[in-house]
Amino acid sequence: MLHFTLRQLRVFDAVARHLSFSRAAQALHLTQPAISMQVKQLEESAGLPLFEQLGKKIYLTEAGREFHHYCRNILQQLTEAEAVLDELKGVERGKLTISVASTASYFTPQLLARFCQRFPKATVSLNVTNREHLLQLLAHNETDMVIMGRPPEGLDLEAVSFMGNPLVIIAPVSHPLANAHDIPLSRLAEETFLVREQGSGTRIAMERFFADQGIHLTTGTEMSTNEAIKQAVQAGMGLGILSLNTIALELETKRLAVLNVQNFPIQRHWYVVHRKGKRLSPVTRAFKAFLLEQDVQPLP
Ligand code: PGA
Repeated sequence: MLHFTLRQLRVFDAVARHLSFSRAAQALHLTQPAISMQVKQLEESAGLPLFEQLGKKIYLTEAGREFHHYCRNILQQLTEAEAVLDELKGVERGKLTISVASTASYFTPQLLARFCQRFPKATVSLNVTNREHLLQLLAHNETDMVIMGRPPEGLDLEAVSFMGNPLVIIAPVSHPLANAHDIPLSRLAEETFLVREQGSGTRIAMERFFADQGIHLTTGTEMSTNEAIKQAVQAGMGLGILSLNTIALELETKRLAVLNVQNFPIQRHWYVVHRKGKRLSPVTRAFKAFLLEQDVQPLP
């Protein structure tokens, strides 16, 4: 008779999906020894190895693959059971779990605050990460709903746009171009740009824009947060390209300037995204409707 706990199933599922003990540990916020221990116990109970190690990589054994199929079904059923219970609780006491692009974290809390005034008993869990990771969360069905730039075509996603996201070029206020008008794009070739990390939506949009315009930009240091880029630009390390949504405070306090460059801003939009056919809980549905009904224009 197979004995296992739900925790062991969740751990097994994470290791099987990531094919890595360390990434599974990260995803579940557990330590790697805790993960190994759970897998070992499960394997002992199964009486067969579920993973095998070849070189540095781990793979599912045949038994592992079979077991993973059932494991996913069990976990899926549980998620559905949870959704049904949430449905019975209704919007009022539901839990909203959303994930947003780091750039969207500049306006999402204000929206959530307004939403929670309407539904004071609802609880919210907000996860902030970059575009690439958001797409992974959606692919693995690990988040209810996402706020991000336009998702790529061809994925089974429902995406509705709800707000503008213009990308602008920022410079220190003392920069020689700070007060210039109609700066030609070609002039930017003389500057160094600080860029977001690979996988950032801002970075991808910026690279696509300059490739389309046939301009080669000199890129300097890569930074994984909008905040770091703003600080580095203020400190004179180079120019930056960020969403206007992220710099309201710096513009108000005159710590950064937006350059007036031809063909700028790059016009992007925010989308509310979930998997097609996903059974959204009442509170998630209510938040989606709330987003779409807003005339949200947090632009300065
Ligand atoms: P970010 O923004 O990943 O650069 O934070 C998301 C997006 O613009 O799609």
